[in-house]
Amino acid sequence: MRHFIDLADWSGSDIMALIRQSVELKAEWKRGGNRPILAGQTLGMLFQKPSLRTRVSFDVAAYQLGGYSIMLAPNEVDMGKRESVADVARVISGYVQAVMLRVFDHRQLLEFARHSTVPVINGLSDQHHPCQALADMLTIYEKFGKIQGLKIAFVGDGNNVAASLLLASAQLGARFAIATPPGYELSQEVYQQAVTLAAGSSTLIESFSDPQRAVRDADVIYTDTWVSMGQEAEAAQRADRFKPYQVNDALVALANPNAVVMHCLPAHRGEEITDSVADGKQSVIFQQAHNRLHAQKAILAKLMA
Ligand code: CP
Ligand code: NVA
Repeated sequence: MRHFIDLADWSGSDIMALIRQSVELKAEWKRGGNRPILAGQTLGMLFQKPSLRTRVSFDVAAYQLGGYSIMLAPNEVDMGKRESVADVARVISGYVQAVMLRVFDHRQLLEFARHSTVPVINGLSDQHHPCQALADMLTIYEKFGKIQGLKIAFVGDGNNVAASLLLASAQLGARFAIATPPGYELSQEVYQQAVTLAAGSSTLIESFSDPQRAVRDADVIYTDTWVSMGQEAEAAQRADRFKPYQVNDALVALANPNAVVMHCLPAHRGEEITDSVADGKQSVIFQQAHNRLHAQKAILAKLMA
């Protein structure tokens, strides 16, 4: 049984296979035909935080593949308080064939997986967002026809989205540069993990505090919120520290002329990204959001079918 919790556990060829499967499933969907590969199967979804994309795209993915999904909203289960994580895992995995969880604490996800008898999918934790990274890589593949050798520049907070994008880049042989304010770097653990994964390939991983250096020669410029869910108390302090890290027209102009701009959404327009960039001709942010559906169908097919 495999889980989809952290991209360090999925090799480059595993991830590439998921991307190819996503392309195939998307083409089938465009032709109006979805194979009922999850017929009779149910996906459980447990959210501790709000969601638009993850919730709707997983729900529709299960439905389009002939399966069913059940959604537990924040505060419905109160995992870890009303009932232990282990007991929630033992109970829910007796009803459904896979569980997707969105949690505050990544350790709860690992604890859940230890006690689950069905595959577990990380729908975002404080440390990782692998479903997002898979949809992002699918989008990059659609745009450039390849991933290996491209340069991906992440500007902003060294957060969960940045961590999964870094691991996906390391596994797929994309060059990765990140610019964060000092004190907001990626965790040393994930950075070292990526360096180890990339060893042996020509993949270059670089970390800067200057956003202009990170985006030089970039094929992809990526940003995300400066205040992730759970960090609301730090909002004012973060707004101040991150101001020089806004992805605006001047910054985008320093990258390759055919570079694309990405954002996992929700976007805080006027903060980490300007309207003119988010709605500009280099932006692929909505293609990215829509690709969550196809990428997650590939994950469900791999883990459940
Ligand atoms: N990008 C993303 O995961 O969006 P939601 O928080 O709306 O699911
Ligand atoms: N880094 C953001 C991503 C939201 C999809 C957060 O964790 O809130």
